[in-house]
Amino acid sequence: MNKIDETILKLIEKTPVSGEKLSSILGISRVAVWKRIKKLENFGYKIKKSKNGYFVEKASEYLLPYEIKKYLKTVWLGQNYIFFEEIDSTNVYAKKNDLPHGTVVLAETQTAGKGRKGRKWVSEKGKGLYFSIVLKEGIPIDRFLIFSLLFPSVVKAVLEEYIRKTIYIKWPNDLYIKNKKFAGFLIESEIEGNEIHKVVVGIGINVNNENFKNLDRPATSLFLEEGKLINRKKLLADILFKIEHCLENINPEEIIKNVEKSLLWKGKKVYFPEVGLEGVLEGLNPYGGLRIKTNKGIKEIYSGDLTLRSLDT
Ligand code: ATP
Ligand code: BTN
Repeated sequence: MNKIDETILKLIEKTPVSGEKLSSILGISRVAVWKRIKKLENFGYKIKKSKNGYFVEKASEYLLPYEIKKYLKTVWLGQNYIFFEEIDSTNVYAKKNDLPHGTVVLAETQTAGKGRKGRKWVSEKGKGLYFSIVLKEGIPIDRFLIFSLLFPSVVKAVLEEYIRKTIYIKWPNDLYIKNKKFAGFLIESEIEGNEIHKVVVGIGINVNNENFKNLDRPATSLFLEEGKLINRKKLLADILFKIEHCLENINPEEIIKNVEKSLLWKGKKVYFPEVGLEGVLEGLNPYGGLRIKTNKGIKEIYSGDLTLRSLDT
C-alpha cells in the first residue's frame, strides 16, 4: 500500500466518492482508480460501489500501517512500521536489514517463525501478533538479563487488561496460562567489542488463534481463554505504548518484582535437563537469575538457553 492508496482510503472511509472525482483529485485515470480499489480489496477492505461512488463498508482486519496509525500513541516505537502479509521470520528480516531504532516489523504469518535453539514458532495467519522490535539505543549490557525480562513483564501487564485469567511467566521468556504456552519472546543481539549495537526483540502472541495442530506441547490463545475475539490493532498499539514507556524508565527492581510475582512453578520442583540440575524454584536474584534450592544449597541460573522443566506437572 502506498500514499495514493492511503489517500483513497481516507477519502472513501466516511462518505462515498465517485470514481470520476477520485480520478480528478488524485490525477490518475479512472481505470487506475479501479485497479487501486481492487488492490485495497485484496488487502482485506470491503469496498462497496453505490450510485454515489465507492465507500469502505468494512476496514481490513490486517495490521496494515494505515490501520495501526489509527491506534498508535507512541512517540518513537513503531513510528517506522514495516508490514508483511507473509514472511519467513520478522526477526530474520530485522537482523538482515539496517533499520532505524524503534522500527517494528510485523507479519500476518511467518513461514519459518523461530523459537529458541532452532525451534519453530507456529504463526497462524491473521490470528496472532508476530512482530520484531529493533533497538539500537539505551541497551544496558551489564543488566541484559533484566532488560530481556522487561518484555514478558510488560506484555503480561497489558494482556491482563484484556483477559481475566492469571498469566504466568516461564523464566525467562514465555507466557503461560495454567500449563499452556501462548506467547514467546526471542531476543537476539549483535555484539561488537564491548557494545551491543543492535537488539531484535521478537514477540509472538496467540491472540485469536484456534489451530494448534502442528504443536508438540500444550498451547492456548487469548481468544480461547477469554471466549471472545480481541482487537489485534488496539492490542499491538497498547503493547508498543507500554514497552516504549518502560524502555524510557527502566526500573530493574520493578521488573524483578513483576516477574517474580508471576513466576511459573515458583515453590515447585523443577529441573534443567541439559545440566542435570534439580531443586525447588525459589525466585529471582537481583540480577534476574533464577534461585534454585538444591540439596547442595542455592544455585543461581543465568543462562536462558537452559531448558526449565517442572517435576510436579
Ligand atoms: P524452553 O526451552 O524454555 O523450555 P520451549 O520448550 O517453549 O522453551 P522455545 O524455543 O522457547 O521452547 O519455543 C519454541 C516452542 O514453542 C516450540 O518447540 C513449540 O513447542 C512451542 N510453540 C511454537 N509455536 C507456538 C505457538 N504459536 N503457541 C504456543 N507454543 C508454540
Ligand atoms: C519462543 O517461544 O521461544 C520464542 C518465540 C518467538 C516468536 C516470535 S514471532 C515474531 C518473531 N519472529 C520470529 O521468527 N520469532 C519471533
